[in-house]
Amino acid sequence: MKYYIKTFGCQMNERDSEKVEGILFKNNHQRVDNPEEADLIIVNSCAVREKAENKLYSEIGRLRFKNKRAKIVAMGCVAQINYERLKNIADIVVGTNTIDMFYSIAREWPHDKVFIKPNMEDPDHIFPHLTSVSAYVDIMYGCDNFCTYCIVPFTRGREVSRKKEAIIDEIKRLVDKGTKEVMLLGQNVNSYGKNFDYGFVDLLYEVNKIDGLERIRFTTSHPKDFSKELIYAMRDLEKVCEHIHLPIQSGSNKILKLMKRKYTKEEYLEKVYLYKEIVKDGSITTDIIVGFPQETEKDFEETLKILEEVRYDTSFSFKYSKRPFTKAKDMDGQVPEEEKLRRLNILQDLQAKITQEKLKNYEGKVTEVLIEGISKKGNQFFGRNRQNIVVNLDFMDNIKVGDVVRVEITKALKHSLLGKPI
Ligand code: SAH
Ligand code: SF4
Ligand code: F3S
Repeated sequence: MKYYIKTFGCQMNERDSEKVEGILFKNNHQRVDNPEEADLIIVNSCAVREKAENKLYSEIGRLRFKNKRAKIVAMGCVAQINYERLKNIADIVVGTNTIDMFYSIAREWPHDKVFIKPNMEDPDHIFPHLTSVSAYVDIMYGCDNFCTYCIVPFTRGREVSRKKEAIIDEIKRLVDKGTKEVMLLGQNVNSYGKNFDYGFVDLLYEVNKIDGLERIRFTTSHPKDFSKELIYAMRDLEKVCEHIHLPIQSGSNKILKLMKRKYTKEEYLEKVYLYKEIVKDGSITTDIIVGFPQETEKDFEETLKILEEVRYDTSFSFKYSKRPFTKAKDMDGQVPEEEKLRRLNILQDLQAKITQEKLKNYEGKVTEVLIEGISKKGNQFFGRNRQNIVVNLDFMDNIKVGDVVRVEITKALKHSLLGKPI
């Protein structure tokens, strides 16, 4: 069978798509990049904003039009919550907790149409990977935080941690096949291991011991649980990269409270300052929502101030989007769409300026890059430094994919760096 797969959404969805591909590959199915050649079309969906959700419906329509003969599977976060609507337009609907269904789909087309479960039955199961220098590894599923804007707790179910042994075993298998870097994934990795007698920092210590592994990254850290202990572990564990993604969402305490984020701007900044002091050359990135209900011009300006104060390397910013099941959708004081857009543009302009200044600082300096692949044009290597910034460099005979090399930065581009190996 030939399959085509399209993925929307976060790293967790990318990993889920990789699981599906791993299963299909093991059963001798072949990936195609042109949907018209496929017998099976899979769309992995994201529900986090309305626009993301709508992409699934339009994508299914588009793909059906292009290829009327293929079977279509709708999976992912929209599938989990909107299977009633999707079962009329897709052939099969697979939710976020039923990816193991693909073991059957890979062998025989099932009679049932909808495969949804509220929680994962065996979180410790090790799904296959495709080979790569840098690999995603789930350490926990779901989320219990219920931030008032967010649909994820509804699409991914309750928080559950995978056992240390399963995670270590998975990483060792990856390293045996050439993986050098792992990205540990969870909606809130700092609350890893709630029901175990070990936590996230203990897990990092264990992963750090794995021979042959060069780098460890993780995402996402919820600021309320971002601990001193973790900051010191980032300093002390040589494989853990000096980068933290710490979504602030808003710089206004009033808005943070309405969002139910459970930290204040002051508590957040205190942690950032400690991180900056302890973790040498550490980079920091964030997520921001503009136009949350009741956000005034003054609240928005407080968010801008935080940007100036923290000086994020990058930030991912979004217009607030009303989501089903969430508390915020019914709050008073919804902000008009044009106003959200105006705020978003101002914020993104400011961030672009800061990003550019920070990238310029690298010019003339030497940075450590893990080579992940060859550029689209085929004339350069690309990789990332420990701070998670993309670096492109010219080919050299003695360098290959998977190597860690020291690179002198020659030029800062808009979102990445250019350099030559030394
Ligand atoms: N677990 C992560 C976030 C996952 S969702 C965390 O807590 O940081 C990724 C990002 O999407 C969020 O950080 C938030 O900035 C954005 N987001 C989530 N719901 C949204 C909504 N309803 N409207 C706009 N942006 C949203
Ligand atoms: Fe959503 Fe909040 Fe959970 Fe992140 S922590 S996934 S923003 S509910
Ligand atoms: Fe990720 Fe989107 Fe689901 S951000 S968890 S794919 S709703």
